Amino acid sequence: MFVNIQNLSFRYSKKQPPVIDRFSFTIEKGEIVGIVGASGSGKSTLLRLLAGLEDPTAGSIELNGRLIVGDNTYIEAEKRGVGMVFQNYALFPHLTVSENICFGLHKLKRPEKKKRLDEMLELVQLQEFAKRYPHELSGGQQQRVALARALAPSPSILLMDEPFSNLDTNLKSLIRMEVRDILQKANITCLFVSHDQADVDAICDRTIYIDCATYVGLEKEAITV
Ligand SMILES: Nc1ncnc2c1ncn2[C@@H]1O[C@H](COP(=O)(O)OP(=O)(O)O)[C@@H](O)[C@H]1O
Ligand SMILES: [Mg+2]
Repeated sequence: MFVNIQNLSFRYSKKQPPVIDRFSFTIEKGEIVGIVGASGSGKSTLLRLLAGLEDPTAGSIELNGRLIVGDNTYIEAEKRGVGMVFQNYALFPHLTVSENICFGLHKLKRPEKKKRLDEMLELVQLQEFAKRYPHELSGGQQQRVALARALAPSPSILLMDEPFSNLDTNLKSLIRMEVRDILQKANITCLFVSHDQADVDAICDRTIYIDCATYVGLEKEAITV
């Protein structure tokens, strides 16, 4: 398996109960897996643990055959090869589309950087918009820039945290299809978090439910966190 999380536990402070409590799951290479759960159920925390933005109290994470968190092991965020897309896209407002996409490519030489940029612009169909700034783009286009920026350094896994929550409802169905299409073309393993079942139904191969009490009766994988 490509991602192997075993007995992961985490709490923000010793006074509080664990946010993540002995959570285990696995993902195969190329799978697009949804995580659905109510607000506050620990979805973002789980992604932060995978990305290396938080350190778990117990448990292990293997990614692409490598132990990144476990007994005596802690690989830093920037060495994990994890890409992330957030709810607010977090694009740099003073950088163009091209500059945003190239942000994580500083290690590449100029011709390689240009090649990768062109590939990414084509993948998200924004070749015509390369010189624009984020505020000159629609919400859906900004979403695609964020996706291209996260995919440009060829991460081994992409984490998406509620990426559609800032989009108009009438745009959502089109953007869901676009994102699904881009993820499939990129052939990337992806963990996609949402509180909206419809997002996950449109995009993911399968779903993991956090806080199964809410979802009892659905014949899907249910995990209590
Ligand atoms: N930095 C933090 N410090 C303390 N508690 C936090 C912090 N971030 C989140 N929490 C708490 O952890 C729980 C899970 O939060 P979160 O992972 O953001 O949930 P979700 O993304 O599912 O809405 C919530 O109860 C939240 O209040
Ligand atoms: Mg969240």
